[in-house]
Amino acid sequence: MLKLTWLSHASWLIETQSHKIVLDPFFVDNPAAKHTANDFADATHVLVSHGHADHVSDVGAVIKASGAQLITNYEIAGWFQQNHGIEDSIGMNIGGTSSLGDEGSVKMVPAIHSSSMPDGSYGGTAAGFVLSDGGRRVYFACDTAFFSDMKFYAGGVDVAVLPIGDLFTMGVEDSLHAIKLIDAKKVLPTHYNTWPPIEQDAEAWARAVKNQTDSEPVVLAVGESLEL
Ligand code: NI
Ligand code: MN
Repeated sequence: MLKLTWLSHASWLIETQSHKIVLDPFFVDNPAAKHTANDFADATHVLVSHGHADHVSDVGAVIKASGAQLITNYEIAGWFQQNHGIEDSIGMNIGGTSSLGDEGSVKMVPAIHSSSMPDGSYGGTAAGFVLSDGGRRVYFACDTAFFSDMKFYAGGVDVAVLPIGDLFTMGVEDSLHAIKLIDAKKVLPTHYNTWPPIEQDAEAWARAVKNQTDSEPVVLAVGESLEL
């Protein structure tokens, strides 16, 4: 079982047989959010791609509610230990893979983006993730510009989750370049429609994906899920 639920903005719930992973939880001060940290009291892991407030603002609250283990880069893990007393974390770096036990793993892959913490301190390097579970693989590009090596990092994934909001990440046009290279079975848009500066027409995006690529676009509403 692999189930992806869009929690608005760049936040996702990833459910497998034995894990409930919350990626980049951002609920407080998020006008598109329909969840709060307490909805994830059964989370097993919190995955964090980089230090910006729209990716870390609810990390402490979800971990407080759930006791989930934090998986992120070395610098962000240290920041959460120092500022939120979070001891149970795995601080990794780009290129590394962390086992989720059983059959699952998370690989930290490059992203082209910045990563400062909300208080301005150093947040290491922004990253994406390739999540594997029971033979299924999902690529979360997270906040990034388009870069052609995505093809190699994502190679052979079932699902790719790509930002389309533009301004802070790649936009629709560059996402189409990425989708052609990655060649995933299904592609899902993320990091859009949270605020006016990153507003996008997801249905128009989906039509372009259908017309120009071999991947199937799946546009989820906030709270909706895709089960593989
Ligand atoms: Ni960011
Ligand atoms: Mn962001």
